Amino acid sequence: ACAAVLLAAGIVGNAAEPVIWKGEVPDALTSASGRKIATVQEWETIRKPELLELFSREVYGRSPRAPGKAEFRLLERSEDALDGKAIRIQGDVTIPGVNLPHPWRMLIYLPKNAKKPVPVFWGMNFKGNQALSEDPGVLIPEWYQPVRPRGAAKSRYPLEQILDAGYGIATMRYYEIEPDRDGEWKNSLRGVFAPEGRLKPDDWGAIAAWAWGLSRGMDVLEKMPEVGPVAVWGHSRLGKTALWAGANDPRFAAVISNDSGCGGASITRRILPGGKSETLKVINERFPHWFAKNFLKYIDREEKLPVDQHELIALCAPRPVFIASAAEDLWADPEGEFLAAKLASPVYALWNLPGIPAEQEMPKVHEPVGGRVGYYIRSGGHDVTPRDWQAYCDFLSQNGIR
Ligand code: GCU
Repeated sequence: ACAAVLLAAGIVGNAAEPVIWKGEVPDALTSASGRKIATVQEWETIRKPELLELFSREVYGRSPRAPGKAEFRLLERSEDALDGKAIRIQGDVTIPGVNLPHPWRMLIYLPKNAKKPVPVFWGMNFKGNQALSEDPGVLIPEWYQPVRPRGAAKSRYPLEQILDAGYGIATMRYYEIEPDRDGEWKNSLRGVFAPEGRLKPDDWGAIAAWAWGLSRGMDVLEKMPEVGPVAVWGHSRLGKTALWAGANDPRFAAVISNDSGCGGASITRRILPGGKSETLKVINERFPHWFAKNFLKYIDREEKLPVDQHELIALCAPRPVFIASAAEDLWADPEGEFLAAKLASPVYALWNLPGIPAEQEMPKVHEPVGGRVGYYIRSGGHDVTPRDWQAYCDFLSQNGIR
């Protein structure tokens, strides 16, 4: 059945350029020892721990256990933010026993006048909390250097639309946890856990560090009485991060990954010809700090990988997981992302939960498919748009998170 799926998906756009396959995609429901996984119990006790171990050791690297739950020091609260639409909460996150160079500044908007705890999107941002909107009340910590203008990322954050749909949003700049440059790890979170200044081949990369940060944010959000279920969300490199966070931390009620591509939602063994999609070689050359050193073993040897990314998506089961692509974002291989979502779906079937049916073909743009595993492709390029947020809100709502 697997080979048939691969053949069917083998041609993209131009029939003259067949997709390159680096070996057969492993079956999420067959354990390393060849055992068929047929029940939730077998998944939970055999296959899920095995996959978590493989992804930790070979792909993202092992993360340390947090010595304690993160704490939140409230700095500011307004009942009347964003033209009276939102409650705004800002504060600093610290972790007892972890001596960071500076705390992590967190910003939360909740819809005003909610009658019950509200579902919240929690994800990191690229340009700083002040870039989400022109809200003059957003605090800019002195360690944010260089500071991007207020509203610099506002096209990606349609706050009114999100709040009107009944959702809150929580965010933090990802540089808080580790600046996104090779070598920076020594001066941030990962450095605290490796004071001797060395990383082992299976030690965590930056993606795992950012994901660990998302879990510490969850420590804070789970204690806030106004906050209901938390959907962990991210775009691109932070979409990879959201998936790894969701796989590891069952407190996330749902997982949403946008344009996450290579090392995120797309199948690593599937490569678009002519360098159109990102490969393991390219990603590790350009971003040597993102993954565990062990991951380098698979450069040009993808067929040797003990896992593929559909199994990362499956690690979110049985929680809702949404994979979003953009039609022009071939670098992230939208069809590879769709295929991964589809190949994760048999794991959801163990709970009798609907995923993406095996016979489902690559959908057209703006036609979301699936159930508990959802897939959506938008027109346009690598970005986050109001249309994407509409799709996330619809997906969560359809899965009872509203
Ligand atoms: C680069 C990188 C991708 C990543 C993207 C992003 O394009 O190659 O893997 O997802 O940046 O984070 O925007």
